[in-house]
Amino acid sequence: MSTPSTGAPPTRPLNVQARASLRDYNTFGLPAVAATLVRVASEAEVKRVVDHPEYGRAPKLVLGGGSNLVLTRDVPGVVLKVEIPGRRLVAETADAWIVEFGAGENWHEAVAWTLAQGWPGLENLALIPGLVGAAPVQNIGAYGVELEDRFESLDAVDLVTGRSVTLDAAACRFGYRDSVFKHDGFGGLAGKSVITRVRLRLPRPWQPVLGYLDLERRMVETGNHAPDAKTVFDWVCAIRRAKLPDPAAIGNAGSFFKNPVVTPEQCRDIIGRDPEIVHYTMPDGSCKLAAGWLIDACGWKGKSVGRAGVYEKQALVLVNRGGASGAEVVTLARAIQESVYGRFGIRLEPEPVIV
Ligand code: EPU
Repeated sequence: MSTPSTGAPPTRPLNVQARASLRDYNTFGLPAVAATLVRVASEAEVKRVVDHPEYGRAPKLVLGGGSNLVLTRDVPGVVLKVEIPGRRLVAETADAWIVEFGAGENWHEAVAWTLAQGWPGLENLALIPGLVGAAPVQNIGAYGVELEDRFESLDAVDLVTGRSVTLDAAACRFGYRDSVFKHDGFGGLAGKSVITRVRLRLPRPWQPVLGYLDLERRMVETGNHAPDAKTVFDWVCAIRRAKLPDPAAIGNAGSFFKNPVVTPEQCRDIIGRDPEIVHYTMPDGSCKLAAGWLIDACGWKGKSVGRAGVYEKQALVLVNRGGASGAEVVTLARAIQESVYGRFGIRLEPEPVIV
């Protein structure tokens, strides 16, 4: 006689590893050990970690693709590695496709998948390393499009209460490479929640975003002034491959510093001294300066400090030349900050999260 079923599906044990190396889980390839690594493949598993007698109270670091992270030390407590899968069309209306992804989906594959389904809109964001769940954290952006321009809402689990919440764009407080998930002060959510699902809004009819200089150049070179979404995708991939290092080959975390925003007065002053400076005027009159240009102008391109270096083709990208430690990367970053401050009076702010 068979045992009567309780109706509840069997729960698999949590996937836990003690003293786990994080070297393969950060795109810089930096050495660090997590006291406890827990891989979470569903929202329910996140909640089980929160309810766990030991892991529930431990400090937590949420790890996505590790593409925006500088590890300078071993990580105590629990590292939550988000591996939540899923991709689906949630709604199709006259003015948008709404698509939903599990936070553990690879960002670039998600972009390619939407295009293959005939839902364009993410092509300018092709080839950005990392996972979908990390995209809202730093409001990823490239070639004239930022995540917030295509954002609908996200689901997250509160790491203290275990409750699920849904956040719209206003609640995410997006800024340039910034969101509520990067702040730990009042109302900030850094380290306090795990993003589990992200919904994106792809507007209809599709309109290409081609205002970025590198894309304008492609249009002139190819004579194609009305590219379709797949062509824009291919152009963005080619542009990125030409100037950004592939993390699979050379450890890096993309742009290491944000492009600094200065007042119109500061900008005039700097241009007066350095007329060549690359800058963009913002809608509010302030000025965004190209940090890569500033670093390049200080002579850093291709230089190294220890085993950390400045990428040869794009001075905004710091790289691991092989076997670098997080401390070496931070030492190099500080030296760059000092020389840019010394020459231009501008403080560069790191873009990745430094742990
Ligand atoms: N420049 C130099 N020397 C350098 C690097 C850049 O003179 O070594 C000049 C370039 O010639 C160009 C300007 O600086 O005129 C800007 O460079 P680029 O177009 O390569 O863009 P970026 O400002 O360096 C930003 C984002 C990238 C994004 C690109 C394209 C930030 C911090 N970075 O880079 O994002 O892909 O624009 O939109 O906003 C990332 O965040 O990790 C990232 C790669």
